[in-house]
Amino acid sequence: MANPKRIGILTSGGDCPGLNAVIRAVVKASALKGWEVFGIPYGTDGFIEVAHGKYQAEDLLLSKHGYALPGMLKGLDVLQFLSGSILGSLSKGHPENPEIAAAILQGYALLNLDALIVIGGDGSLDIIYDLAQKGQWNIIAIPKTIDNDVPFTEWAVGFTTAVDIVTQALYDLTFTAASHERVIIVQVMGRDAGHLALHAGIAGGADMILIPELTPALTVEMIEGCCQQLMKLRHAGRHFALIVISEGVHDLEGRKEKYIADYLADKISQVSQRLCDSPDPRYCDLQALDIRATTLGHIQRSGTPLSIDRLLATFFGIKAVELIEEEHFDEVVVWQNGQVQSIPLKPIITIIKQCHQEKRCAFPVDPEGFIVKTARSLGIYLGET
Ligand code: F6P
Repeated sequence: MANPKRIGILTSGGDCPGLNAVIRAVVKASALKGWEVFGIPYGTDGFIEVAHGKYQAEDLLLSKHGYALPGMLKGLDVLQFLSGSILGSLSKGHPENPEIAAAILQGYALLNLDALIVIGGDGSLDIIYDLAQKGQWNIIAIPKTIDNDVPFTEWAVGFTTAVDIVTQALYDLTFTAASHERVIIVQVMGRDAGHLALHAGIAGGADMILIPELTPALTVEMIEGCCQQLMKLRHAGRHFALIVISEGVHDLEGRKEKYIADYLADKISQVSQRLCDSPDPRYCDLQALDIRATTLGHIQRSGTPLSIDRLLATFFGIKAVELIEEEHFDEVVVWQNGQVQSIPLKPIITIIKQCHQEKRCAFPVDPEGFIVKTARSLGIYLGET
């Protein structure tokens, strides 16, 4: 057998379902090869703690910790079922601080690792790639994010579970909307990408879906369009409605709103009232619309990972271990055409950096793609006038 390897693993950026399933797969596959896996706490901040002497390498050995449940459950391997990250995660790195970067590099060197597996979204991958270049680290990246905005991978770990959580929320809200003949506007996460809102909106039976790729900012015409759609629904016998709005859609002035669903609720109330007060009798149906807004928030990042996320996480974790065995570093593991694959990290980082600089999404929804077409074919209003 080749020399046993020492590999590090960390989670960075917002948590999402499936992180622990990646860690479990890496630990299991590595153990079979006689390798050691060191779990770095709180993303790259864990290396700072190592540099400051808070942790020795053996404190971080994941294989040592086991899954010690009490009584008859002793030995039960629950890790792949649990959301969050057993390692903790770091939402904001410190890319500009040279002292912190030096401590991170020092901590990494002390652990004497052969490779590091980084489970992160586009922001974390960007920051950690720069550190890896400075420290000559051998890294393998695994994309995770409920936003699904990492380029070159059709799925990132956590996305499908988040879609399911939002879909379930829409289903649940349907009944209260129906009982009170209400319009419920649901604000969905996704940063500046609309994948989560679009997928869940279709699966959850939304009547309207507003995503930044199609409607970067609200317009008066678009809000009138929402009112027209509400009238159409009423004429067809549906006296309630579900509107999904992605948090990345900006307000009428093109500004980011923390609560864009509440903002839209106010605007639809005002515009529907104005239309109602107009002499045009077609708009009478919009009289006294009852509108509520709901922001789903961080519930979208939690919950038990769905089987599809556990599988994706496991495929990605195993692929990462294979790449390390082949000493094929600086790669990102991706899901393309129903297969796990790997591609060089550098071109992805170049795209991510450029998009960050230009403040645009690195992997937006394709406005001409089949998913948008599907929504249109169902008669879902997408804000187009
Ligand atoms: O990137 C994941 C995400 O959940 C986004 O959808 C959301 O905009 C953001 O993180 C929220 O970040 P925080 O947890 O820092 O509030």
